[in-house]
Amino acid sequence: MRVVLCGSTEETGQYAAQIIADRIVEGPCTLGLATGSSPLPVYRELIRRHRQSGLSFAQCVAFTLDEYVGLDPQDSRSYRATIRSDFVDHVDLAPEALHSPRAQDGDATALSTAAAQYERCIADAGGIDVQLLGIGGNGHIGFNEPSSSLASRTRIKALTRETRDANARFFEDDETVPSLCLTQGLGTILDSAHAVLLAQGESKAAAVRASVEGPVSAACPASALQLHPRATFILDPAAASALENLDYYQHVQALNDELGLRPLGRPLHSVRSLCESSVSD
Ligand code: GLP
Repeated sequence: MRVVLCGSTEETGQYAAQIIADRIVEGPCTLGLATGSSPLPVYRELIRRHRQSGLSFAQCVAFTLDEYVGLDPQDSRSYRATIRSDFVDHVDLAPEALHSPRAQDGDATALSTAAAQYERCIADAGGIDVQLLGIGGNGHIGFNEPSSSLASRTRIKALTRETRDANARFFEDDETVPSLCLTQGLGTILDSAHAVLLAQGESKAAAVRASVEGPVSAACPASALQLHPRATFILDPAAASALENLDYYQHVQALNDELGLRPLGRPLHSVRSLCESSVSD
């Protein structure tokens, strides 16, 4: 597990964008896209690189993490529409290359079928190369709320009151926030080749600490990433502020800087070399 300490929200986006750009350079790439405010700096930076340096997503396929049950995919509050307006519509990713769970039909059988189809579709694409993640204040990733099985696959989940309250800002009132979703499971996320979680702000500090330094537990779904062979937490100062071993992560980062393994501001070295040869994982 790598903990990357960034100086600002924008820097978290630049770091994650570099990971994606490095992977795209290697060839056709399957991206896992997250909604929410956490990945927005990444999307801003990727759009900037697309416009200014020609970074191309034409060979990419993308899968969203989750979707509300009962919203039409055209509904601007659906996660499919959100990911399009935040990112996909601004780059050259083919519209048909964007996949999201089919969750508009609230019938339980249809939703279970859609969940199984989504898993097959990800497998048919060869799995996810880089999975972007945000984190909820209660430690959820995707919509895997506390108590989610660490082995779970894409399925129907009920949202907690806390998550519905946090997302109420996108709806008329609390009561119109959907209460169900389809979400990739923790097992699905653990199958990605590289899981990249971004967290910014003090409201995420406790969840980040529990995920990185707490026990692996269904009570904090993001702690499942401790089982991932290649997980990177990219944090701004406020999100990192509750980490007990902050001194150690800073020490590791300083060593990586000394070795020339830190990508930002050091164009000769890519994130790939950082991930493969830095002094600690
Ligand atoms: C929602 C999404 C998650 C996201 C979380 C945090 O619940 N399903 O994928 O990580 O919100 O959102 P934000 O990044 O806006 O804090």
